[in-house]
Amino acid sequence: MAGPTNDDIQDKLLDHTYDGIQEYDNPMPRWWLLTFAGTIIFSVIYLFNIGPVGNGKGRVADYDADMAAYAKAHPALTGSDMSSDQLLALAKDHEALEEGEETYRAYCASCHAPDGGGLIGPNLTDAYWLHGGKITDVYTTVTNGVLEKGMPPWGKTLNTEQLSAVVAYVSTLRGSTPANPKAPQGTLVTP
Ligand code: HEC
Repeated sequence: MAGPTNDDIQDKLLDHTYDGIQEYDNPMPRWWLLTFAGTIIFSVIYLFNIGPVGNGKGRVADYDADMAAYAKAHPALTGSDMSSDQLLALAKDHEALEEGEETYRAYCASCHAPDGGGLIGPNLTDAYWLHGGKITDVYTTVTNGVLEKGMPPWGKTLNTEQLSAVVAYVSTLRGSTPANPKAPQGTLVTP
């Protein structure tokens, strides 16, 4: 560091006295002042999103690029991730149904009732559907949710296996007779 050392600074006693206290004139070393000025210059560049820092695009474009890369690497789940045949096969698979039932009791029963009869959420046992009654429609609804109507999107909370299993389980509720069925909502879907 090429700053002044103790050798080139003569401790100089300033000639004022306050309540008997005197002070030395010890300026900050040059390297410190340059670093300090550098942070101020950097903050202006950063504040106005000027390019030459980082990869040269500025922090806003940088952030947008990072977010776009993330979105590309983690595409939103859609109903098309599982085919109707795959889901219908799961609906006959004991293990998958058990897992689906477990997930249903943990995450869905509070709004759709333990037997699927409906509470806050619609009856899942009848043939009337607001968002489509095909098993792939149900998968899409469960994955993406209908947030503005109070149905949470489960695609972020549950993994693909849990989603498929719970959708398969829900499909087995259809045609059952719940204790307190909620009135049908939506349009009639005949299988
Ligand atoms: C916080 C309450 C709540 C929870 C928890 C919840 N739902 Fe829902 N669900 C709703 C509401 C409310 C609707 C109706 C949305 C609308 O009116 O469009 C709905 C709609 C649905 C539909 C569409 C029904 C139709 O008629 O098209 C399905 C399928 C469904 N939920 C399945 C599930 C599953 C499976 C889970 C658990 C993983 C779950 N829900 C958890 C509140 C909930």
